[in-house]
Amino acid sequence: MRNPFSGVKFGLRGSGPITVEDYRKLARRKLPGMVWAYVDEGAESLTTLRANRDAFSRWALKTRVLHGSVVESMATTVAGADLDLPVFLSPTGLTAITHWTGELAAAQAAERAGTRAVISTAASYSVEEIAAGTSQSHLFQLYPSAEPTGAQRDLTMTILKRAAAAGFTGMFVTVDAPTVGNREGERHQGMIANPRFTPRQILSAARRPAWSADFLFRRRVSSPMLVEDGGSAVEAVQNQGQLLRPDLAWADLRRIRDAWDGPLYVKGILHPDDAEQAVACGADGIVVSNHGGRQLDHAIASLDALPAVVDRVGDRVPVLLDGGIRRGTDVVKALCLGATAVGIGRPYIYGLAARGSAGVQHVLEILRDEIARVMLFMGVSDVSQLNRSMLLPAGQAQFEAAPDALVPEAVGALR
Ligand SMILES: Cc1cc2nc3c(=O)[nH]c(=O)nc-3n(C[C@H](O)[C@H](O)[C@H](O)COP(=O)(O)O)c2cc1C
Repeated sequence: MRNPFSGVKFGLRGSGPITVEDYRKLARRKLPGMVWAYVDEGAESLTTLRANRDAFSRWALKTRVLHGSVVESMATTVAGADLDLPVFLSPTGLTAITHWTGELAAAQAAERAGTRAVISTAASYSVEEIAAGTSQSHLFQLYPSAEPTGAQRDLTMTILKRAAAAGFTGMFVTVDAPTVGNREGERHQGMIANPRFTPRQILSAARRPAWSADFLFRRRVSSPMLVEDGGSAVEAVQNQGQLLRPDLAWADLRRIRDAWDGPLYVKGILHPDDAEQAVACGADGIVVSNHGGRQLDHAIASLDALPAVVDRVGDRVPVLLDGGIRRGTDVVKALCLGATAVGIGRPYIYGLAARGSAGVQHVLEILRDEIARVMLFMGVSDVSQLNRSMLLPAGQAQFEAAPDALVPEAVGALR
């Protein structure tokens, strides 16, 4: 394994970013209000967005001393891809609106850090561009579209064929977007299908000349997977309407399963019954996720949903998690609760917005350093050894009890 403490280092003089939160602050300064709202806000009162973070503080890590074991491996596998790091880049749409190099730069950074990116249906770069600009096989994320009516073409099948032809083998199917979440922060800022440019928006952009110049001259604001060659941004927005399906059902998942040969993971599962159903439809993996608190506000935090899903299907398929990961301790807690890897959405966008591809890589290296340090403090040499007995409910005394007795009530409720 590469030396976990040898990542890219910025700020050797102590002035540069050293945490994901530092990157968040840098990104905020770089982006106009409208774009910042798109990245950092969530649905309605932001309850689930905050709950995703709070859930991690309800667990404490057991530290062990004088164990003599060094960190040997953080390797894991996600949808057929071998990763050196149990952290991958979750899919995000329209990412080039934050930095024109977008998902391509992010995927290249993921490769340099020994991991992979999941490329969204709504990405600003096409699967063909990602494949041409990278050397590893990355993963594709599908938003299923409505069954075609009349002369409409079958957008889902067209997209799947393009992804397969470009060499993508692993796929996430996102199922938690039957409609768009009520993201009031975005709406207040005019970040809607046909954006409104108010004097406030124009002033906010004018105060960020580097971002504005890239926005105007690089013109990376469309979703090329949603249009035929040469299609316009307007066509992409119209097609995007076909992706938000209020009537999406298990039969649709089966249809997609039948059309895709490679590993297929279902993203956006919170309830163990849904996890069970997804596996029955042929899913090869489950991604426990509430879309980063961007869909149903007051949905359960991802970490709180994880143990029950693992208990139900974890003996048959890998279970991944995303939502609220900002620290190495978060990654380790999720792995202790049964995740085989975790995804990061906003953290990688902060890195991208702040410093392009190097920023994404640095965010991943920060997490790698943090995970390695936590493992050392816990006496764990390989991430595959992490398990529930290494956690305690925060603030509670430690008893010599069976590990299962330590799962908090909130988690037990979903079983
Ligand atoms: C700006 C933005 C765009 C996103 N776009 C997509 C998308 O196109 N497809 C998808 O499945 N999830 C999308 N997500 C959700 C992420 O894949 C992921 O579930 C979430 O960001 C995880 O939470 P975190 O941001 O706290 O890490 C998006 C998230 C953000 C922040």
